[in-house]
Amino acid sequence: MGKITIAIDGYSSTGKSTIAKQLAKSLGYVYVDTGAMYRAVTLYAMRQGYIGGKEENMDKLIADLPNLSIKFVYNESLGFSEMYLNGENVEKEIRALPVSRLVSKIATLEAVRIKLVAMQQEMGKEKGIVMDGRDIGTVVFPDAEFKIFMTASPETRAFRRYKELLDRGEEVTYDEVLKNVQSRDYIDSHREFSPLKKADNAIEFDNSDMGLKEQLERIHNFALRKIEEV
Ligand code: DC
Repeated sequence: MGKITIAIDGYSSTGKSTIAKQLAKSLGYVYVDTGAMYRAVTLYAMRQGYIGGKEENMDKLIADLPNLSIKFVYNESLGFSEMYLNGENVEKEIRALPVSRLVSKIATLEAVRIKLVAMQQEMGKEKGIVMDGRDIGTVVFPDAEFKIFMTASPETRAFRRYKELLDRGEEVTYDEVLKNVQSRDYIDSHREFSPLKKADNAIEFDNSDMGLKEQLERIHNFALRKIEEV
């Protein structure tokens, strides 16, 4: 049976990564969370004081990009890959709210997108990959055999994210999280380079009222049909 490329795009906190991760596992495919890559660049920019402080310095960030090491390292005991920035495991830090607040801004930078898209294309060149993000079906792999565009209402997504952050011990309010979701939606879909939009041939999947098990079953069946076609 041939291997295919699966692109899962959509708004933040639609549960894309949970679905993508489990789908990859059930198909024996590699899973790549491209949001983690934009988050790692954001964390680097924050630590260097290029963003989040009084002054922004995107030119310095762009100058540093060639020397920035962003890698996924598979963690055998956890069963998934973790993000390493310049050799340091930053998996936890990149998911926290300070990074979430600034990541959309970093993702508007063309130089950042060029670097990360090239890395993503390299990772997926053998196919057999499930990649989630915002521009996978439109820019990274426009020829992907199976494209999904996930949506859910902002309130549903904010509530899911809020619960996730609370479980991780972060002190946040639902309103803060909802504001973050709404502002990221706006920036992600209005930016100049590779804005978030549904690819023409992507299947739209609204999961506001659908449990994880049902979503997985449906998407897995779709994927199997696509795999049989190649
Ligand atoms: O999927 P996520 O919420 O972890 O993504 C974090 C941010 O990165 C999101 O606000 C948009 C951006 N992003 C992007 O622009 N392109 C991608 N392929 C993935 C994420």
